[in-house]
Amino acid sequence: MKHLLTTSELSISEIEQILSEARGFKAGESWLPHNQTFVANLFFEPSTRTKCSFEVAERKLGLEVIPFEVATSSVLKGETLYDTIRTLESVGVNAVVIRHNIDNYFDELVGKTNIPILNAGDGCGHHPTQSLLDLMTIQEEFETFQGIKVAIIGDIRHSRVARSNADALVRLGAEVVFSGPQEWFDESMRQNGHYENIDTAIETSDVVMLLRIQHERHSDSDKHTAEEYHRQYGLTIDREKKMKPNSIIMHPAPVNRDVEIDGRLVECERSRIFKQMENGVYVRMAVLKRALDQYQGGVNNVNDYQK
Ligand code: CP
Repeated sequence: MKHLLTTSELSISEIEQILSEARGFKAGESWLPHNQTFVANLFFEPSTRTKCSFEVAERKLGLEVIPFEVATSSVLKGETLYDTIRTLESVGVNAVVIRHNIDNYFDELVGKTNIPILNAGDGCGHHPTQSLLDLMTIQEEFETFQGIKVAIIGDIRHSRVARSNADALVRLGAEVVFSGPQEWFDESMRQNGHYENIDTAIETSDVVMLLRIQHERHSDSDKHTAEEYHRQYGLTIDREKKMKPNSIIMHPAPVNRDVEIDGRLVECERSRIFKQMENGVYVRMAVLKRALDQYQGGVNNVNDYQK
């Protein structure tokens, strides 16, 4: 079963294969399943990018997208996640995309369902497709990960994006450093990179990756005002001027303009924020193909399909 739950379960060659497929889709290659194939997107947490780009990817692959809204489903009557997935499987859904607020929600499903699960984000845990689209964006820019320095800055402790990216980037040969409020640094991340002062991190990195403050996951009252956070830890106009000549700005978005990044920099020349979103469609096509190809089969060229 080709689930996609975390980046750490993917070998380097599997990551390279997914990125290669994604580049192919971006260049116009196509793939269609042999049989009518149904997918459902279950978002128990809000999403704009991940949900919409999965749906665009699904439709580009000719998949039938079954509408599923948590707010109008039997989840509201107390149906468990497990029973919800078993129900979708029983009615003929062939794969599910799930975002959930519980870390590792998929542990209760793996081995008990017969359809692939694509993780669209679990609590503070993992966001593998975000990481893959970030990798694709970095690879497009620098062609290699070897020796590329990536500064991941902000709310590290609550960030599934930071966790997934640090794991994959380090295994691919990049150097990762973390910065932001030191109280939000996560000691468990030290295996993938050390904490660095904000100005050093921004001035010496090839990729400055900013993170959104995850207010919804903070139990204590916020210690930082927007202005103070921006001044101390944000990408200000002055800090951007000190970035390396060919370095780029990334952010998984949604962006809090003028908090983690000055609003005027969101679409500046260095920014790859909207490129990341564009690449998300192609990466999600690649992981959907990977999940469905093994047990459904498919055709790589739409013209062959139509013959
Ligand atoms: N980057 C990201 O996961 O955005 P959404 O929450 O809008 O899906």
